[in-house]
Amino acid sequence: MPATTPSPGFLLSFEGSEGCGKSTQIRLLRERLEKSGRKVEVLREPGGTEIGESIRHLLQHAKEGHCMTPETELLLFAASRAQIVREKIRPLLESGAFVILDRFLDSTTVYQGIARGLPLESVRAINAFAIGGTLPQLTLVLDMDSATAWQRIHQTGRELDRIESQPQSFFEKVRQGYLEVARADPSRVKIIDASATPEAVHEAIWNLLTAQISL
Ligand code: TMP
Repeated sequence: MPATTPSPGFLLSFEGSEGCGKSTQIRLLRERLEKSGRKVEVLREPGGTEIGESIRHLLQHAKEGHCMTPETELLLFAASRAQIVREKIRPLLESGAFVILDRFLDSTTVYQGIARGLPLESVRAINAFAIGGTLPQLTLVLDMDSATAWQRIHQTGRELDRIESQPQSFFEKVRQGYLEVARADPSRVKIIDASATPEAVHEAIWNLLTAQISL
């Protein structure tokens, strides 16, 4: 993977399986950062640009997505990422913004590489091409046991998308995949225990972040 591109802003990505509480933690962190005077931008993947949102629809809800091969899935996630990096992330970092990503390249490594079983060498090469050196300074993985995460998703009562409808065994592969990614890159990827209360998880995130940068 190429080295991180230096820029005045800060790039933080959140990762974890569905149902791990990512959206709540992103909202809490955004509010606290804004209170401390930072310009904050939250971007989601897949999506975050007009092209990316069309790709998101194709990946998650479109009926033609149901016969999608894992290879196509990988390339569509990468295409969405290539667009958001150049159209949004780099200009925001140059302007000094604190950019929070709701998923980034590690999702592809875990979901398409480890959980779907595509060759990891290909996944790495495609990820590297898509990000072109724009790597997060910090990645937080919200870790939770897969049975709880799976139950949470199924208790929402809403219609589940193509990936959320996977069996619990897929959620377990995702969890193990993230633990593997963190072991492989411990200086960038940190595991946060997401089983505590939202407030306690937020404090753990804040402590980790403020130990790394002054806010
Ligand atoms: P979410 O961000 O709302 O959880 O939805 C994104 C879904 O897409 C989620 O099921 C994880 C999946 N995903 C991948 O499989 N690979 C990727 O590279 C990304 C960004 C997401």
